[in-house]
Parts: sequence; C-alpha cells; structure tokens
Amino acid sequence: MKIALIGYGKMGKAIEEIALKRGHEIVLKIDVDNTSEFTPEKLRKADAAIVFTGPQSAYDNVRKCIEAGTPLVCGSTGWLDKWGNIKSLCEKMQGSLVYSSNYSIGVNIFFEVNKKLAALMAQHDDYEITMEEIHHTQKKDAPSGTAVTLAEQVLENIGRKKSWVNHISDNPDELEIISERIDPAPGTHKVKYSSAIDDIEIIHTAHNRTGFATGAVLAAEFIKAKTGIYSMKDVLGL
Ligand SMILES: NC(=O)c1ccc[n+]([C@@H]2O[C@H](COP(=O)([O-])OP(=O)(O)OC[C@H]3O[C@@H](n4cnc5c(N)ncnc54)[C@H](O)[C@@H]3O)[C@@H](O)[C@H]2O)c1
Repeated sequence: MKIALIGYGKMGKAIEEIALKRGHEIVLKIDVDNTSEFTPEKLRKADAAIVFTGPQSAYDNVRKCIEAGTPLVCGSTGWLDKWGNIKSLCEKMQGSLVYSSNYSIGVNIFFEVNKKLAALMAQHDDYEITMEEIHHTQKKDAPSGTAVTLAEQVLENIGRKKSWVNHISDNPDELEIISERIDPAPGTHKVKYSSAIDDIEIIHTAHNRTGFATGAVLAAEFIKAKTGIYSMKDVLGL
C-alpha cells in the first residue's frame, strides 16, 4: 500500500523501515522543513497516513488528514484535550482513524492485564496504588500517553481513586503517576498495588521502537479500507 508519513523523526524513520520491509511504498514524507507539501492533493495519493509528530502540531495534522479523506493512524500523544473535536469531525466526514497511545503489541496486552488486575483489586482498599513511567529525555509530554491510558483504566475500575496527578501525592483520592526522564529509555510503565502485607506490580519495558513501528504499520494496513474510529485493541482483535 501507499503510505504518507507525517513526522519524520525517530518514530517516522522506524516506521519507514518496517513499512518498506512489509512491501509498502512511502509516497509522502512531511516534517517541519517541507510542511508546504502537506496538501490534500498529495495526501490523497496515499492509502493511509501515519502521524507521529510532537504534541503541539498533532491535532492540526490529524485534522488535515481527516479533511483530505485519507485514512490515518495517529501515534502522537499529548493532544487528547481536543479528542472531542476530532471525534466529531471524523463522524461528520465519515473519516477513518486509528488512535492508540501505544502501538506495541506487548503494551496492548499489558493494557488488558491492567484492566483485569484493577477489577480484581477494586474491593481491596488496603492496597495503595501508584504508577511510574520512564522515557528518554527528549520526550515532550508528561505523563506519557500510555501512562494516561493505564491511569484511566485504573480509575474506571477503582472507585476510591477519583483522578490521576503527575506528582507525589498523599491524597488517597488521587492516583499518583511519577514521570522520570532517563536516556535512552524507549518506555517503561509500572502499576503498583502496595499493602503492609505484600506488593503486586505489573511492569512493561520496551527495549526499542520496533514494537511501536510494527504496530503502527499493522494499524495502517487495518484502517486502509475502513470507516470510523478504532483502537489497537480492534487492530489486534484483543
Ligand atoms: N503511540 C505510540 O506507540 C508512540 C510511540 C512512540 C512515540 N510516540 C509519540 O509520537 C510522537 C513522536 O515521537 P518521536 O519519538 O518520533 O519524536 P521525534 O521528536 O523524534 O519526531 C517528531 C517529528 O515530528 C516533526 N514535526 C514537528 N512538528 C511538525 C509539523 N507541524 N509537521 C510535520 N512534522 C512535524 C519534528 O520535526 C520531528 O522530526 C510523540 O508525541 C511521542 O510521544 C507514540
């Protein structure tokens, strides 16, 4: 298939490598130095666009792809305050979008384990819950999009936690997420349940970017002929 890459940084380059290996063609590459080429005409030459730009430009880039009618996979994180606008636009334009805060197969299995563990722990008030995420120092958003997804899953299942915060907290209503920035960590996430008797921890550690890139290409293959909004759970049939 023909793929447009919007954002040609660390992820854009990793995705290109995997896409070429899977027999796809890259028909458009957009980064800050050639944004004038990011036109509906050029986008429409692609079967799907894959957006991995920074958080500041992600919303506009996603919007442009939907308006051009090009199915898209968005990996950019840190822009979900505008999710409602994109959802409405996608419905109005009958657009095609896959969004996941994390495209790796391992993390998507981890998400399912996190939900199941949270449901099991819902009644066990003697366990305090905390989260930690570690990424490389160039990461612009904190907490990571993946940590936000994990936190939302905990909040949906554990009534005693009302909101997440991105700092140390003594407030029992708050779910504490500690963000650390250490090179070259591609991404580590930990959810910990701690009581006076014992601890239960689940940890996912990415060793490189290949998992995210492979998942993003799988998502592009999935969305090419579909309409609507999907997640990696749909792509992987979890
Ligand atoms: N969902 C996932 O699985 C996943 C995995 C890794 C990273 N990410 C997220 O993806 C994003 C990109 O990550 P990265 O590691 O490739 O970062 P990066 O900084 O290496 O690359 C981002 C690229 O986008 C370019 N860019 C910025 N504004 C642009 C614009 N207006 N138009 C076109 N290009 C523009 C930058 O010049 C840069 O080359 C981040 O938000 C990161 O958190 C998501």
